[in-house]
Amino acid sequence: MRFPDYRPRRLRKNEKLRELVRETTLTSGDLIYPLFVCPGKDHVQSVSSMPGVAQLSADRAVKECQEASALGIPAIILFGLPERKDPLGSEAYSDRGVVQTTIREIKEKVPDLLVMTDVCLCEYTDHGHCGVVQGADVDNDRTLELLCKEALSHARAGADVVAPSDMMDGRVGAIRKALDQEGFKEVAIMAYAAKYASGFYGPFREAAESTPQFGDRRSYQMDPANADEALREVELDIAEGADIVMVKPAMAYLDIVYRVKQKFGYPVAAYNVSGEYSMIKAAGGNGWVDEERITWEVLLCIKRAGADMILSYFAKEVARRLRA
Ligand code: PBG
Repeated sequence: MRFPDYRPRRLRKNEKLRELVRETTLTSGDLIYPLFVCPGKDHVQSVSSMPGVAQLSADRAVKECQEASALGIPAIILFGLPERKDPLGSEAYSDRGVVQTTIREIKEKVPDLLVMTDVCLCEYTDHGHCGVVQGADVDNDRTLELLCKEALSHARAGADVVAPSDMMDGRVGAIRKALDQEGFKEVAIMAYAAKYASGFYGPFREAAESTPQFGDRRSYQMDPANADEALREVELDIAEGADIVMVKPAMAYLDIVYRVKQKFGYPVAAYNVSGEYSMIKAAGGNGWVDEERITWEVLLCIKRAGADMILSYFAKEVARRLRA
C-alpha cells in the first residue's frame, strides 16, 4: 500500500494511538545506577564535571541505594576510591577495601537491591592503568590473577554480579573459574565485552581519580573504528562464561549494541557513560537543549537499538520522573 491509501500519520494523530503502536518502552526496571564509594563517614564530595554525581562514603551510598530501590531501580554498580594507591592496586582485592565494606553495608540495609561491582585495577593503581605495568605496557596474564582476587573478594562480600572492565584477554574465563572453585557458582558475570578506548570516559576519570599517569589505554581497550572486532570480543566472553555482555560507550556505538543483540541474542547491557551524561548536563544547564527530553530520548533509543539494560548516571532522575 502506498500514499494516498497508506498514510502513516493516521497512527500518530494522538497520544493514545501513538501509545498503541509504540515499539519500545523504558522503565526503571531497565536501569543500573553507578555509585562512587570512598572511605570515611557522612562524606559527599561532588564531582565537578558531573553535576549531580558525587563520591560517597558507605553510609551515604546506602542512602542512595535505599532511594534507588524505592524508585524501582533493580541494581547499582559500585566503583571504589581507595585510601591508598600502589603499583599493584592492592586495595582492589582487600576484604577490608572500600567496595567490599560498602557491599556488606548495602546487603545488610537494602538486601533486595542487586549489587554489581566494577572489577578493574585502574582506580587502585598509582599509575592509573587497568593492570600490572611491565615496561611501557600492561602485562595481561599477571593482571588476570589480581582480577580474580578482586572478583572473589567482591563475591565474598556479597556481590550478586561482578563486571570486569579491564579488557584483558581471558579475564572472563579466569574469573568464572575462580568463582566456581570457591563455591560462588551463583555470582553472575557482566563482561564489559566491547569496551572502546573512548574520550567519553573523561569525567569518570575525575570521579574515580583513575586517569593513567602515562600513555593511554589503547593497548587494551578497543579502537573506535572497529565493529567486527567487537563481535569477536563478545563471542570470546560468551564462550568464557559471561552472563551479560556490555557495549561501552552507548550513544556513538548503537550499531555495536544492535549487532551484538542480533547476532548473539544474549542479555546486552549498554553503558551511557560519564561524557554522555556531562554533555547533556552542560547543554541542558545552558538552556541549549531540553535536558529531560533528550535524556529520555537517549535512553529509549539505547533500548531500541537492542540493549536490555542501561547503566546510567541519569537512573534516579529518570526513575523519579517515571514515578510522577
Ligand atoms: C574502569 C572503568 C572506566 C569506566 C568504567 N569502568 C574508565 C576507563 O576505562 O577509563 C568509564 C565509565 C564512564 O565513563 O562513565 N576501567
